[in-house]
Amino acid sequence: MARSFLDGVLGAFSQDMAIDLGTASTAIHVRRRGVVCREPSVVALYSDHNGDRRVLAVGQEARAMLGRTPPDVEVVRPLRDGVIADFEVTEAMLRMFMHQCMGPNHVVRPRTVLSIPTSTIDVERRAIRECAEAAGSREVHLVEEPLAAALGAGLDVSEAAGNMVIDVGGGTTEIAVISMGRIANHATLKVGGDQMDEAIVRYLRDARGLLVGPVTAEELKIHLGAAAPAGRRDGNTAMDVRGRDLVTGYPRALRVHQDEVREALSGIVQLIVDCLLATLDKTSPELAADIVDKGIVMTGGGAQLRRLDRALGQATGLPIIVVDDPASAVARGAGMALDHIEVLGAALA
Ligand SMILES: Nc1ncnc2c1ncn2[C@@H]1O[C@H](COP(=O)(O)OP(=O)(O)OP(=O)(O)O)[C@@H](O)[C@H]1O
Ligand SMILES: [Mg+2]
Repeated sequence: MARSFLDGVLGAFSQDMAIDLGTASTAIHVRRRGVVCREPSVVALYSDHNGDRRVLAVGQEARAMLGRTPPDVEVVRPLRDGVIADFEVTEAMLRMFMHQCMGPNHVVRPRTVLSIPTSTIDVERRAIRECAEAAGSREVHLVEEPLAAALGAGLDVSEAAGNMVIDVGGGTTEIAVISMGRIANHATLKVGGDQMDEAIVRYLRDARGLLVGPVTAEELKIHLGAAAPAGRRDGNTAMDVRGRDLVTGYPRALRVHQDEVREALSGIVQLIVDCLLATLDKTSPELAADIVDKGIVMTGGGAQLRRLDRALGQATGLPIIVVDDPASAVARGAGMALDHIEVLGAALA
């Protein structure tokens, strides 16, 4: 009783936050304000002559330094496959993002809900929790990503019916069937937008003899990438990119066609298709019947890959629905979970 009274008082002054701490980007949803921050999960670190590291920049600013740094500056991504790979750097990054969202007038540390991949093991859960506390949270809750994604997509996850979500992120693709507020079955594929970028780098190296960086590969994916051929002509059909010629060693520009990018991505798309089919295969007949009626909801930044919905729809014979602003769906849904902490109780660890 005393605790809930205190919480009520503190709650009136704090800005509760839902945080999607992703491999590629971090999105923060603040109660009543919506998603106020979406930044790349990237940190630039400066090492002095004693080997001590200092944060030079985070987010967009740090990402712009990728591949362009002097020897004493290192640009890192502190999360891998959705889990923390470098605790100290993740904490510093999260602290700065949370600070940006709170503005100058905050008095009370916020309560936070963080989304985590379904397969996160106990030690990783503890690490995420401790990291969010160290970064300035008053109270930390964890919610599984597919549950947050489904909430963010506007699905009624509490009903006794199957809802299926596929979240294509930067480092992972998470597929889950949800019923009665719980995950009935799921699969995590360690493949996402990053592996698409790597596939484009490999393709250009092997087929065109040009070495490009990950930032250029991502631009190609976003501007020309597709999971299936276009029925009619797309707006952009080719793009000029710059890189290093593997034979001469000199910088060179090259025109890359959309068919090449699609071919480069085809292996990754097939892995996602196979994983989705395997997950459907493991779904109970009743839940599968619900999914036939409702289709599969797709979230995550990778859901924006052109015609990925069509490729998955053709492979499964089911409707695929890409939600609005798919890259923010998990943060939005985690924000909704925060609004219902008392109701969701058991689902929030
Ligand atoms: N228009 C687009 N087409 C294809 N991919 C895109 C597009 N826009 C963004 N992406 C990709 O989406 C990925 C980021 O998605 P998201 O922010 O959902 O990942 P994340 O949550 O950080 O990762 P994870 O969930 O694996 O931890 C990046 O690889 C990015 O290149
Ligand atoms: Mg994600």
